[in-house]
Amino acid sequence: MNPECLSLVDLHRDVAFVLRKMADDKGLRFSGRVEQGLVEVVSDCLKLREIALNLGTNAVKYTRSGSVGLRFARHGAECWMLEVDDTGPGIPLQSREKIFEDFQRLPETGTGQPGAGLGLAIVRSLVQLLKGRIELESVIGSGTSFRVILPMHYACCSCCGSNANSPPPDLDKKHAQARKTQLKIPDDAHKSSR
Ligand SMILES: Nc1ncnc2c1ncn2[C@@H]1O[C@H](COP(=O)(O)OP(=O)(O)O)[C@@H](O)[C@H]1O
Ligand SMILES: [Mg+2]
Repeated sequence: MNPECLSLVDLHRDVAFVLRKMADDKGLRFSGRVEQGLVEVVSDCLKLREIALNLGTNAVKYTRSGSVGLRFARHGAECWMLEVDDTGPGIPLQSREKIFEDFQRLPETGTGQPGAGLGLAIVRSLVQLLKGRIELESVIGSGTSFRVILPMHYACCSCCGSNANSPPPDLDKKHAQARKTQLKIPDDAHKSSR
């Protein structure tokens, strides 16, 4: 784990850039949104990116027409939600657990599309590592929505050195201070410390 203070706006922009291009190439509409005020979280940026790209790639791959979306929004006081939805074929009720297992591909949707059946198994492991959970809503013939619910503050944060299970109340202040400190470090010093 490599928890850090990260910008959800930047992460969304980065992933949306890739997904929009994939959707365009297939003639699908892409919609992206970050809820206003949802700015920073403490989490692992690369893992979040991998989750969003895996779910987003599936959404594009398995949707023949219509749209795919990537939305970041608040979820209660302490969590946020990464949602990927599509207007694809939907996932049958009896397969909604199975698709998260290694090498499982559904004949209803997977046939004719490239893939190894590992993407969702990886997503599930990453979500567990980030102390989140994943939910799935799907209507056959209408589409699917994957929601990953994640804590705003991953419990162990390297920039404040906290190992507590829940963040101290002044964590936001500490993060702000940590960022200020990082800004003062000259580029060269930053590079040599890696
Ligand atoms: N958005 C989706 N809509 C319909 N089916 C999906 C969707 N995402 C995943 N699936 C089904 O779940 C299976 C497993 O997905 P995944 O683990 O990402 O493997 P892969 O994409 O390599 O087949 C896919 O083969 C497909 O049958
Ligand atoms: Mg996949």
